[in-house]
Amino acid sequence: MTILVTGGAGFIGANFVLDWLSQSDEPIINLDKLTYAGNPQSLQALQQDKRHELVVGDICDAGLVADLLKRHRPRAVINLAAESHVDRSIQGPGAFIQTNIVGTFNLLESVRAYWNEMDSAARAAFRFLHVSTDEVYGSLSADEDAFTETRRYEPNSPYSASKAASDHLVRAYHHTYGMPVLTSNCSNNYGPLQFPEKLIPLVIANASSGKPLPVYGDGQQVRDWLYVADHCSGLRRILEAGTVGQTYNIGGWNERPNLTVVTEICELLDALQPRADGVSYQEQIAFVKDRPGHDRRYAINASKIERDLGWRPAETFETGLRKTVQWYLANSPWVEDIVNGAYHRSWIDQHYAA
Ligand code: NAD
Ligand code: DAU
Repeated sequence: MTILVTGGAGFIGANFVLDWLSQSDEPIINLDKLTYAGNPQSLQALQQDKRHELVVGDICDAGLVADLLKRHRPRAVINLAAESHVDRSIQGPGAFIQTNIVGTFNLLESVRAYWNEMDSAARAAFRFLHVSTDEVYGSLSADEDAFTETRRYEPNSPYSASKAASDHLVRAYHHTYGMPVLTSNCSNNYGPLQFPEKLIPLVIANASSGKPLPVYGDGQQVRDWLYVADHCSGLRRILEAGTVGQTYNIGGWNERPNLTVVTEICELLDALQPRADGVSYQEQIAFVKDRPGHDRRYAINASKIERDLGWRPAETFETGLRKTVQWYLANSPWVEDIVNGAYHRSWIDQHYAA
């Protein structure tokens, strides 16, 4: 048996692939376009591993997807390929519409044709797991209940709107064609291999190189944080035992304002790699212009996946954040290759210019 993973050279995808192959010998075909966010270095440990094949290509390429399905006959497709950074979706939404909506549609169409040709046992066993986000639910006020799976969709950024559209397509393919789909909506991930344009790795990288630590607006926006290995175990569990047609929220039960997160990173760095002048990294915190349309609060109610599938996160924020900071300190060449790259530098210069 084989699974097809899309976006497996990105942050969550690479963690998922490494995690999968550490627990199973079931091979993975990894279809990734290697955009700026895809990094084959993250998969270096698998270079000689026959269980993993990286195919550089686009989920929008119908011929390629059909060919991969025909040749490898996967028993499941896990769709992680996406444009994923909210700020970039504000600067240039086109790529988000193309990959997140058109790409998901193309995958669904190719998989539908493939699934229709299967015998009845294979059809029943097949799964299409679509990996989505809590951002589709919109923004919560301070005293509102956390998002459940029945919360209405109210996406506020081009990124979250494109993910919402893809979720709707996935739902429709189950309702209309009976395709055996599963959808997960997860909160903010953090951990090893995250591209240093997202808050946590950006703050660690900037702190270590003496740069400002940019906090948008008043820093009181709240996110629910989940260690990436926990997301991977949640996805494996949904794939294994989820009920087709269902959606599952995945979260860390761990809401925190951004400024608290940044302060906690500084405290860890003060202990693990103190500044030469003995001053706290908190000195480097800089309040900058807010993100347009910035969602104030996300919170995930992850009771359903716990009740129905017995999944709960293993890490607390304290244990996960410590591991994350330690990983970035121990893997500075991985970070430096990215932050020294022209593409990343031009994004940082342009986005944080003011
Ligand atoms: P990422 O940006 O780190 O990685 C995305 C990967 O997809 C990259 O390897 C990129 O090369 C690849 N890709 C992009 N366009 C492609 C295309 N057209 N064809 C094939 N590959 C393509 O993203 P991530 O943070 O790892 O997120 C993975 C998925 O999880 C996304 O769908 C995202 O919406 C979802 N998600 C992310 C988070 C989070 O906190 N990072 C939380 C919830 C859900
Ligand atoms: O909630 C799940 C989502 O989490 C995923 O769907 C997205 O793919 C993922 O990128 C993430 O989106 P966010 O916008 O929440 O993540 P980001 O790391 O960009 O920002 C986290 C919070 O920190 C957010 O409130 C914006 C703020 N922020 C971010 C950056 C990059 C800052 O204050 N300063 C910054 O420089």
